[in-house]
Amino acid sequence: MSYELKSARYLAADALRAAVRPGDAVADATMGNGHDTLLLCELVGDTGRVYAFDVQSQAVESTRRRLAEAGLTDHARLFLMGHEHMGEVVQEPLSAVVFNLGWLPGGDHAVTTRWETTQKALDAALALLKPMGVLLICAYPGHEEGERERRELTAYLSALPPQRFNVLHQRFLNAGPGAPECFIAQKQNY
Ligand SMILES: C[S@@+](CC[C@H](N)C(=O)[O-])C[C@H]1O[C@@H](n2cnc3c(N)ncnc32)[C@H](O)[C@@H]1O
Repeated sequence: MSYELKSARYLAADALRAAVRPGDAVADATMGNGHDTLLLCELVGDTGRVYAFDVQSQAVESTRRRLAEAGLTDHARLFLMGHEHMGEVVQEPLSAVVFNLGWLPGGDHAVTTRWETTQKALDAALALLKPMGVLLICAYPGHEEGERERRELTAYLSALPPQRFNVLHQRFLNAGPGAPECFIAQKQNY
């Protein structure tokens, strides 16, 4: 595939392709329509595991269908559950955790990720990451809660100790206000 400098989601997907290996355990914190869950299933292969979370049954069903069409249902454990509970069901170190914040495309805009629960989920995700594991986040500051989430997220990630995490923030400078942004944090060997 040719290199495409197109959107925050492409940047996050590129980082996942670089970071995830067959056999890894990973998590999709915001299943939505299952695009990221599918990519993760492809990357971890037959011997890996993908934990995926969403609060909407519509998202879980959409993801289940997408995985079934690709013949990859066995690779994933889909939870109709808020990602803030991730630490209660994931009992093994993860190579990657991906968050695609905001609302379900084509769904109810009132059901959007919110900073209070996102923060709890990030605490859990950072604790679960194994050394050199990565956290990928796409944020959408084009709506009020999304802008609040982006602002709080920036402060939260900026405060992570550099001895334990390297943190990168990518945004398209000429895409105008509200354009999606990508954040990547990698746990260090310590
Ligand atoms: C932008 S969509 C995700 C798109 C998805 N990554 C994909 O590939 O299609 C954001 C999703 O986050 C979900 N969400 C909102 N609050 C949540 C929470 N507390 N825990 C898990 N998912 C949540 C929404 O229901 C929505 O489906």
